[in-house]
Amino acid sequence: MKLNLGTKLFLSNLAVLLVGMLVLVIVAQFSLVGAYGRHMAMMNGLGIGSGMGNVPGTGMGRGQGGLGQAGGAAFLNFRSGFYEALAWAGLAALAVALVASLLMSRALAAPLRAMMTASQRVAEGHYTERVPAGGSDELGQLAGRFNSMAEKLEQVETMRRRLIGDVAHEMRTPLTAIKGSMEGLVDGVLPASPQTFDQVAAEAERLNRLVDDLQEHSRVESGAIVMDLEPVSLAEVAGMACKRLERAYTTKDVSLTLDLPVALPPVRADADRLLQVLTSLLHNALQYTPAGGSVSLSVERRGQEVFVRVADTGIGIPPEHVQQIFERFYRVDKSRSRQAGGGSGIGLTIAKHLVETRGGRLWAESAGEGLGSTFTFTLPLK
Ligand SMILES: Nc1ncnc2c1ncn2[C@@H]1O[C@H](COP(=O)(O)OP(=O)(O)OP(=O)(O)O)[C@@H](O)[C@H]1O
Ligand SMILES: [Mg+2]
Repeated sequence: MKLNLGTKLFLSNLAVLLVGMLVLVIVAQFSLVGAYGRHMAMMNGLGIGSGMGNVPGTGMGRGQGGLGQAGGAAFLNFRSGFYEALAWAGLAALAVALVASLLMSRALAAPLRAMMTASQRVAEGHYTERVPAGGSDELGQLAGRFNSMAEKLEQVETMRRRLIGDVAHEMRTPLTAIKGSMEGLVDGVLPASPQTFDQVAAEAERLNRLVDDLQEHSRVESGAIVMDLEPVSLAEVAGMACKRLERAYTTKDVSLTLDLPVALPPVRADADRLLQVLTSLLHNALQYTPAGGSVSLSVERRGQEVFVRVADTGIGIPPEHVQQIFERFYRVDKSRSRQAGGGSGIGLTIAKHLVETRGGRLWAESAGEGLGSTFTFTLPLK
């Protein structure tokens, strides 16, 4: 037979009660005679009452002296009265205990039943489902944990939906451009010139980059990338990153300076990933700094951490955007960054994930629009 938790609790309470009552009756039966005798003797000693007589089955009366037939009858009457009172008391206790146990079992089983229903709803995809959480006992804690689990699932679901929406949105622009150019070519509205084909190729390249970025982002976010940790000379990697972008900086007429401390112990990191983060930051600095500006890359040791800083004299970041630029696809000015090289807004998201995976932090500071920006990341030395 399948019993639910409430019934089981009720039955176990009932069993405890019945055992208690049984013990009560047995102990009363055994102790009644002795207790009665003692109390009567005390009464006789004080000169009260008529004596005990021959208490049947105990052999007690004879030794007490002076107790007659009337005493024995009194005991039998007392015993019947006692059992009668005990029976009434037992019935009343049973009734009260049944009601109390029923209420208690229901109160205990109700939150569990609510959680069962809610977990079923969550399993069906209703992530907004919550259970009433209250109380500091285990049930209250369980309800609290259930709610936070449902909240996390809801966040993941929201992120998933947003990601699909964002990706669709990001793909639409280059696809629309390619489609427009192709239609123009077919209709003869656009000339079949190298510029037209270059434009199509550039949009296709943008799509390609977006797909690469997304793939990299999903690998980083899911923790699928394996960091090949080894002692890395930051000076060497910083030098490599600067070298990579040297030409681009010269072409745009933005100066790039590298400031390294004299003695810097090697950091434990994945050299390729470190180079990727530095390149991403230097690339941004170049992208968002007008010609004639300057960018500096500096490294500093503070305690058991190294601080790597990329500071530029570029367009800066309005304070309300400083936090958000690390979000996927977030760009301060979408149209501007498209014209200025067409970033998809994933670079910083990947860089932050990479730094955090290695136990560091990455943040941005800017005094405001037109006042330059500083990106700093830390890496633990150990
Ligand atoms: N040095 C900087 N100065 C000013 N704004 C910046 C700077 N670096 C980043 N930003 C802002 O942060 C946004 C997000 O940067 P992120 O590197 O993530 O994307 P992106 O450069 O637009 O594209 P990509 O994915 O190709 O890197 C940028 O679009 C830009 O608005
Ligand atoms: Mg970028």
